[in-house]
Amino acid sequence: MYDESLRPQKELVLCEDGTNTLYSKEFDEPYHSTKDGALHESLEKHVKPSLTLKQNQKKLAILDICFGLGYNTFTTLYYIKKNNLKTKVHILSPEFDEGLVRSLDTFDFPSEFESIKHIIKAISEKLYYEDEQFKIEILLGDARKSIPRIKEKIDIIYQDAFSPSHNPLLWTKEWFSDMRALCKDNAILTTYSTAAAIRLGLYENGFFIFVHRAEMMRYSTMASLQMLEGLEYIDMELKKIRNTEARSMRDRDY
Ligand SMILES: C[S@@+](CC[C@H](N)C(=O)[O-])C[C@H]1O[C@@H](n2cnc3c(N)ncnc32)[C@H](O)[C@@H]1O
Repeated sequence: MYDESLRPQKELVLCEDGTNTLYSKEFDEPYHSTKDGALHESLEKHVKPSLTLKQNQKKLAILDICFGLGYNTFTTLYYIKKNNLKTKVHILSPEFDEGLVRSLDTFDFPSEFESIKHIIKAISEKLYYEDEQFKIEILLGDARKSIPRIKEKIDIIYQDAFSPSHNPLLWTKEWFSDMRALCKDNAILTTYSTAAAIRLGLYENGFFIFVHRAEMMRYSTMASLQMLEGLEYIDMELKKIRNTEARSMRDRDY
């Protein structure tokens, strides 16, 4: 079993939705918005909006950036099981903190994850899980290196890295270009970031930008390679005219 003392760079934090997350001393940031809550944020900002949009697809390939405590991956499975969906899901998730993933077997997750305990255990032991419906792969190492090696075409990206100011290389125009190269023509991306620089980085790679609103939650961003009906569209050309200082983030600056 993984030794808890190997987790000194992290502190347990209770979120307002009653679920646990960690605070990373290394990145000087919590893994989730403690106000929105780890489970609530994952469900409302990433899982529900994307699985609702893709409800007619029988198979989905999801890129979960990055694995961390695995909430986005586990909430996806929880949501699918709870709603009795038959969707087959392949989740690929980069993560360079192997110790964290190996410790998840002993992490105090919410009761909603009770039915997937065996999956959490398998992932913490083998960094991999597969059954008839779900396949989950942790891509150990630097995401900037593992992403260009992925062969599978992706339907959904959960862009959930630490914030742009604390983890800039996972938010640049070049990073989103690598993401774009993996995407199917109708791929979507969800992210908590609503910053103009981030939306520009996506827009400059061909994504349409939308506002996503959910109850009891700060609004977030949905990006799509196709125009989406019924969502609040943001005209980025107009944004550029109104905010001439706005620039996407670039690798060369970090
Ligand atoms: C905000 S946390 C992700 C939270 C996660 N989505 C969840 O629901 O629990 C960001 C994660 O990115 C990982 N990370 C940061 N930079 C990385 C990189 N270059 N390559 C791989 N993982 C990285 C960190 O170790 C951390 O686990």
